Amino acid sequence: MTRFAHLFSRSALTIYLSVAAVFTILTLLVAIDPAMRLKHEDADLPIAAVDAAVARGRIIYMAEGCGYCHSQLVRPALIDTPYGRPSRAADYAGATPPLVGTQRNGPDLSAVGERQTSHVWNLYHLFNPRSMVPASIMPAYPWYFEIVDKVDAPAGALTLVLDEPFLAEGKVALPKPEALDIVAYLLSVKQQ
Ligand code: HEC
Repeated sequence: MTRFAHLFSRSALTIYLSVAAVFTILTLLVAIDPAMRLKHEDADLPIAAVDAAVARGRIIYMAEGCGYCHSQLVRPALIDTPYGRPSRAADYAGATPPLVGTQRNGPDLSAVGERQTSHVWNLYHLFNPRSMVPASIMPAYPWYFEIVDKVDAPAGALTLVLDEPFLAEGKVALPKPEALDIVAYLLSVKQQ
């Protein structure tokens, strides 16, 4: 340790070269190497026809800023393997604008429609993420649901039933059309 401290205190050039070396190695590993490998991932994918509910849900996804916390870009890197195969240029064909994202405060959603396949799970999670994932830091989106007395819920309607603190005693949540659109969009986000 002291020998290292001595080495650095002697020469500004050593510090400069060490920092430059670390920077270069990181750039090679996280930018240049993945970019070189992606160059050959250029297979064509068909542009799927977009369902109306999915298109509306995508607009709400953008308006709510979901993409500020969720990327839709899987890099060819080990830490990205839980999110799907590495993204290709063709994955964004027809997507205006492509929702690549810059931040990953939540998981990458490129293949969320293959991972979280239940629309019921997605509705509960949207209403309040903590009802499904207790330690979640994702905001709740209760304004896409109508809170009504259990007795007033229309028979056969898709109804969220939760205990306190998520819903007051005797209340249930009915998803509004916007909630169903967001979930239709999420379920459509798949890698082909
Ligand atoms: C402040 C950051 C933040 C925002 C904004 C945000 N999320 Fe999340 N999201 C997270 C985090 C963190 C998780 C992981 C914990 C969890 O599952 O709740 C997550 C998880 C998810 C999951 C589950 C993903 C999986 O692989 O299990 C979905 C689906 C999701 N978010 C959709 C949305 C949608 C739709 C919006 C906008 C309406 C949104 N998120 C907004 C942070 C965020």
